[in-house]
Amino acid sequence: MAAIALKGSDVQWTCADDDTIMRSALRAGLGFPYECNVGSCGNCRFDLLEGEIEELRADAPGLSDRDRERGRRLGCQSRPLTDCVVKLRLMPQYESRFPPVRQQAELIEVRDITHDIREFRFRLDKPVRFLAGQYALLDLPGVAGNRAYSMANVENDAGEWHFQIRRVPNGAATGKLFDGLSLGDRIGVDGPYGMAYLRAESDRDIICLAGGSGLSPMISVTRAAAATPLLAGRRIDFIYGGRTARDICGEDMLAELPGFGSNIHYHPVVSAADGDGWDGHCGFVHELAGKLFSDRLPECEVYFAGPPMMGQAIQKMLIDLGVPPAQVHFDQFY
Ligand code: FES
Repeated sequence: MAAIALKGSDVQWTCADDDTIMRSALRAGLGFPYECNVGSCGNCRFDLLEGEIEELRADAPGLSDRDRERGRRLGCQSRPLTDCVVKLRLMPQYESRFPPVRQQAELIEVRDITHDIREFRFRLDKPVRFLAGQYALLDLPGVAGNRAYSMANVENDAGEWHFQIRRVPNGAATGKLFDGLSLGDRIGVDGPYGMAYLRAESDRDIICLAGGSGLSPMISVTRAAAATPLLAGRRIDFIYGGRTARDICGEDMLAELPGFGSNIHYHPVVSAADGDGWDGHCGFVHELAGKLFSDRLPECEVYFAGPPMMGQAIQKMLIDLGVPPAQVHFDQFY
């Protein structure tokens, strides 16, 4: 156990030997800035003023050589070897409504969604609350490091966390999930994390944009929005993009929600429709969103999740259309 002290303040917290400086701060209720949790985004950079740390991911793209020379480190990838003194700006918006907890979970159900997306249902040993759209870090037996995946369901007393995950070709983690886990197997789960959660206090219309495993958090956000009294009757538009027709999914889950077809609308789009009988929208998610909603987007809460290129294209489109950043919600963890 190491003591982590924040320079220039009386803030101090403890970090377990196998925890990271950022995650331990969030567990302590502190607003340590972050986003991806896997070393990519760089949001969790801090100055290490005193003490020693071990870097979990030495090649993390979120930290440049220049950062490292200046004594900067990534909070999500730093495991303390001694007591430390750090410098960073804590921000209240990062304080967790439900601080992340590390525990074990059992695989209780699996179901196929498409040819390469499967839903894995886990039951936590100790139920923990989460906000719709948040994610967890899964620690899979025999797989080095952990992986971030978003929950597709909404918080529940049974402690069930469901993850809709797309198989990554030759991916160690999805290989383990799809081929190496059986019902009853146990894994490590750490969460909840993430800032792209449903803003249940906003009564704006909602637009959800998803591709690949991004299905999961967008389904969660839509499910929770449909159950939020303030949002009853507000319009929710859900665009899901795939490469071909066989990638398209999600409509059956939305169809179970009250308001589907009246105020909840589903718009699938494929980017490579040749020869598969597809007669719906063609193109990319951001193109369809711009085509259908360019006038409305600046007035909506916009949530999106999916592959990095999709995310970048959506961000550019939203900036070009003048959508206020405060109304845009996403976590990129690639
Ligand atoms: Fe640490 Fe993204 S690099 S949260």
